[in-house]
Amino acid sequence: MTKTVKIKDKEFELFINQKTIEEAIDRIAADMNKDLEGKNPLFICVLNGSFMFASDLMKRIHTPAEMSFVKLSSYEGLASSGNVKEVFGLKEDITDRTVVIIEDIIDTGNTMKAMIEQLAKRNPKEILVSTLLLKPDALVNDVPLDYVALRIPSDFIIGYGLDYDGRGRNYPDIYKVKN
Ligand code: IMP
Ligand code: MG
Repeated sequence: MTKTVKIKDKEFELFINQKTIEEAIDRIAADMNKDLEGKNPLFICVLNGSFMFASDLMKRIHTPAEMSFVKLSSYEGLASSGNVKEVFGLKEDITDRTVVIIEDIIDTGNTMKAMIEQLAKRNPKEILVSTLLLKPDALVNDVPLDYVALRIPSDFIIGYGLDYDGRGRNYPDIYKVKN
């Protein structure tokens, strides 16, 4: 296991190992298996960061699950809110369905808030949020947190799907930036 990773100007040190990540996913998957039984849920994986989490999570879901993969495109909004994000890639009709968002990390919650607002317009029965990581101290939006695998301080991290400037998604462990 590599203990430090250097990407561009930054050095990262091992922070959360694969075993800890997998045990945390075991716990939320057990909750999901209880809650989602018979609901025919549609899981929505938010690319790119969530690909590894989605893979490990879905292997633990026992109901025959449907999955969709979306991306969020950022553009500068005309309003003062600044950076607006639009969901694209969702072809499924989610009317009256239980949808479960699979996200890598919730930081300020801006992304998740925008995502939920856009999905809500399509009249689902319910929207559940699962995230591998949550930075509680950075959260400034009131977003539902149905399934949170790990809570972490507000340091910048990479690995297990998360990147720094496009790099570092490939590591099975999570690393945090060295100050
Ligand atoms: P939010 O909109 O502030 O909640 O930020 C969410 C998005 O920012 C995530 O989907 C990630 O793409 C990115 N992000 C937040 N924190 C980190 C981090 O520590 N490492 C890598 N990406 C991060
Ligand atoms: Mg993300």
